[in-house]
Amino acid sequence: MSSTVIIGAQWGDEGKGKIIDIFAQEADIIVRYQGGNNAGHTIVIDEKEFILHLIPSGILREDKVCVIGHGVVLNPEAFLRELEYLKVNGVNVSGRVYISEMTHLIMPYHLYIDSASEKEYKIGTTMRGVGPAYEDKIGRHGIRAIDLLNMDMFKEKLKRNLKMKSHVLGNMFDYDQILEEYLMFGEILKEYIKDTTLFLSESLKNGKKLLFEGAQGTLLDIDYGTYPFVTSSNASVGGVCTGTGIPPNKIDKIIGITKAYSTRVGEGPFPTELHGEFGEEVRKKGNEYGATTGRPRRCGWFDAVALRYSARVNGFDSLVITKLDVLSHLETIKIGVGYKYKGQILNEFSHDLNVLNGCEPVYEELPGWMQDISGVRSFDEFPQQAKDYLKRLSDLTETKIDLVSVGAERTQTVWM
Ligand code: GDP
Ligand code: IMO
Ligand code: MG
Repeated sequence: MSSTVIIGAQWGDEGKGKIIDIFAQEADIIVRYQGGNNAGHTIVIDEKEFILHLIPSGILREDKVCVIGHGVVLNPEAFLRELEYLKVNGVNVSGRVYISEMTHLIMPYHLYIDSASEKEYKIGTTMRGVGPAYEDKIGRHGIRAIDLLNMDMFKEKLKRNLKMKSHVLGNMFDYDQILEEYLMFGEILKEYIKDTTLFLSESLKNGKKLLFEGAQGTLLDIDYGTYPFVTSSNASVGGVCTGTGIPPNKIDKIIGITKAYSTRVGEGPFPTELHGEFGEEVRKKGNEYGATTGRPRRCGWFDAVALRYSARVNGFDSLVITKLDVLSHLETIKIGVGYKYKGQILNEFSHDLNVLNGCEPVYEELPGWMQDISGVRSFDEFPQQAKDYLKRLSDLTETKIDLVSVGAERTQTVWM
């Protein structure tokens, strides 16, 4: 496979970091195509935990090149902090990270606007300025990485942005102060900024293997997600093409990642959410706390309706199921297989928030396996109930399963 995409199939935090790290073994270049440092991707190697927000998870494999595509919005300060974090933790990043020159920058005022609009809209954002940076991009007044290489352009854009924003923000932001800071960023970042669309397409021509790392998840996608309780980018497969310059006919394989149950952090509908003690129990067993904000994640049963929708809009060739081990203590496990709304059974995901908020999930119940599976390394070793559960997930989502994860460690994986 010369180019593979790995996409969150739920509301993010499916374990993309861990799985990207595994697939990165077989890749040459790992590419982020959307999102920003709202992401938090965890990789555990020999009990040492790394959390990455912006730089692709492939960076932990020594010989790999990592690209931040122009579909990403980049906070230069967060980028430099992450580079430093990697260096301090013994990762050699030299010559292995590129930033697309078309990447839009997160500016100090974006962070302020994010927190101010949260007071009104209550999406539960990560407050990283991601949404407002995309707003400026779509509004055609965003500032791009390439502008850091041409300070006249940068100055003009900054001046106009501050002028426009002063109608709402007053004179809260000082032109000279931002200019000084971003001049410094430009000096440091210039060695990373290049035409990555050309680099990626030539790399493909030269037989290199590309791996695209999704951030967030399909149900947080700006178009396909539970709008407006979504992030501001296309986390789904279309984002790969618009965010990196790789056309659809150069994508060979699309893999969806899902937990064996569901989680969501932030506001918005979640039909199979578990409330009370049971939800708390899953949260504890799964250590479901945000990798970026530390917020407790909302937990619930696997939602096969949502997953089938996610598989349809992305065209998943296969699935990776993570965190199966977290369900090991349960006597029975439920799977949401439909939504009951106003007396009707719905078998398809809905774009109507009233339906998603007001529906009663229809559940199927399967027996649990009630034993530790974190040491399982081949499909045959799984207890029969775990095999049956996986088979049911595959049947209901109409997608085959390639890989199952039974723990956070790099080694805790089972190929099917
Ligand atoms: P991402 O945003 O999709 O990369 O996922 P996060 O890193 O935010 O959250 C996934 C969490 O689950 C991390 O703490 C991982 O270390 C952990 N994790 C990943 N796979 C497994 C698994 O199979 N079992 C368990 N118990 N933990 C896992
Ligand atoms: P990874 O890549 C889970 C959620 C936020 C909020 C909504 C909008 O680790 O899976 P934003 O800051 O993007 O404007 O917030 O999206 N969100 C995530 N939830 N995992 C993520 O990333 C997320 N990134 C954003 O909680 O509900
Ligand atoms: Mg995460």
